[in-house]
Amino acid sequence: MHNFAIKRGIWGLMAAGLCLLTLAPSMAAIPKGYGLGPEPDSAARMDPIPKGYGFRPSTEETPVTERFLRPEVCPEIQPLPQLEEEAPAAGPAETTDTVLVSATEQQLKERAASQLRGRGLTKEQNEVLSLRLVSETTLLVLLEEGELTTADLIYLALPNSRAALLDRYNAWAADHPADAPAEVVRQVNLDRDVSFYENIQIVTDPDSLTVLVNKNHALPSDYVPQLETLGSGYGSGSLRPEAAQAFRAMADAARKDGVSLRGVSAYRSFQTQRSVYNRYLYYNSQAVVDTFSARPGSSEHQTGLALDINTANVQAHFETTPAYDWLQKHCAEYGFMLRYLQGKEDITGYRFEPWHYRYVGTEIAKTCMERGITYEEYLALQSN
Ligand code: DAL
Ligand code: ZN
Repeated sequence: MHNFAIKRGIWGLMAAGLCLLTLAPSMAAIPKGYGLGPEPDSAARMDPIPKGYGFRPSTEETPVTERFLRPEVCPEIQPLPQLEEEAPAAGPAETTDTVLVSATEQQLKERAASQLRGRGLTKEQNEVLSLRLVSETTLLVLLEEGELTTADLIYLALPNSRAALLDRYNAWAADHPADAPAEVVRQVNLDRDVSFYENIQIVTDPDSLTVLVNKNHALPSDYVPQLETLGSGYGSGSLRPEAAQAFRAMADAARKDGVSLRGVSAYRSFQTQRSVYNRYLYYNSQAVVDTFSARPGSSEHQTGLALDINTANVQAHFETTPAYDWLQKHCAEYGFMLRYLQGKEDITGYRFEPWHYRYVGTEIAKTCMERGITYEEYLALQSN
């Protein structure tokens, strides 16, 4: 196994501990008979029960209260290893790291070039790799230590590959021999090699306006963003100030074109999302609920950057309205993108939600809307 895979394993264990610490208090707090109590105002209006699924008891045998404790919610829960405290170094011993720190860029380039020679890589691959090995010196060390195969180098020569995912690229390639390296990287970057909710990473940058929150990237349960109410004439609820201002500007512009845009569900706390999700679970199997409602921690609504516009009911056929047409043409000008696209259910994990928009800023929103891609696809193509 690669050294960094071992290091990643240690980080994984630490992340699992964090996951346990962040989710455990809220899981333990699920009251008996939860989900049947009073709902928050917005909950009744959002995320409809799909036609044909409403108002029948869940068929899953597992008691609803136990579902949040299933290992798939927090799969990496394992006992933390007893870490021995490292004795402080006696003096400035020359480690690989200090050698690298003191190496000039030219020396690093020469070391990278000597490692890449004779590997049968193309000129373009060599160029990308040289730059990468100089900026990600841990990779240079691994290469010098014989820890990287030529297949690894081919992945690393793709700018959107992630060093931490090399093992997963190799595993995907073994299972999908017809996939070219670029496709392998794309699929794994999209988390297509793991099932939804199977490999939940708690996001480390919840305040970022471009944070990815989905079924494998969850917010800490206690994360609450800074919020601002949408305000009178703009519907109910609140969003992060940047998103609230952008939404008001968008609604004002739409109004001038004779189109009314109102928020019907904007920010939802972890607890509200839990209540919403549990309410659906009472009437539907978890497999069905998961197609239209996020498990707590995995809802974009908790970011304060997403909102449902005008409706959240599939039977309203929002996609046939002038408001939807207007949003298709203009939402990106205000930094919003349609998040759960038709035909992309296998990537987003949700059925088409024509009413759910996410603020990501104008540049990203324009790219995604013009290319008709999800936010996951956009990010999977980005360099680190
Ligand atoms: N309906 C969306 C997926 C949510 O629950 O966040
Ligand atoms: Zn929504």
